[in-house]
Amino acid sequence: MNQKLSIAPEVFTYMEKVTGADGVEVIVNLPKEKIEKINDICHSFDNDPRELINVLHETQHTFGYLPAEVQDVIAHNLTLPVAHVYGVVTFYSFFTMIPKGEHPISVCTGTACYVRGAEKVLDEFRKELDIKVGETTPDGRFSINCLRCVGACGLAPVVLVGEKVYGRVSPDGVKSILEEYKK
Ligand code: FES
Repeated sequence: MNQKLSIAPEVFTYMEKVTGADGVEVIVNLPKEKIEKINDICHSFDNDPRELINVLHETQHTFGYLPAEVQDVIAHNLTLPVAHVYGVVTFYSFFTMIPKGEHPISVCTGTACYVRGAEKVLDEFRKELDIKVGETTPDGRFSINCLRCVGACGLAPVVLVGEKVYGRVSPDGVKSILEEYKK
């Protein structure tokens, strides 16, 4: 059986044929190397549909995000409906379909940080960068996300920029944090 999927072909230059574990051939708009990498990840979990969450985690860890084309390849390998994969990706807040910025900002909104004003800090980042949570600035430099407790409650409210941890952040301190990365 031949089944063809073609997503926004005008946006993507690459078109590759993929044959999934089910023997069905589809066309996906991704570079070959990327498809092979996703296939490897799926194979490392035996193409087991019950391992979907782990496969998604590993794939997001590798590519940074899970766009629709990547979900297609995963669905295909694990012989799951694309809609099911999409449902899982959109259900869990730790999965994202949007590429993170060069400097991903994560504001902890766990209880300790929340009671010490994380919401106001988050508002300030939103205002300064003019984006919402889950978005990336048009120049691709910054993105904002929320995290649950990162285990540094003594430093609440806590903000991470990439791997760097900032403690006791106040709304007034947001500008100077951003300055560090604007140079
Ligand atoms: S609640 Fe933010 S570090 Fe624990």
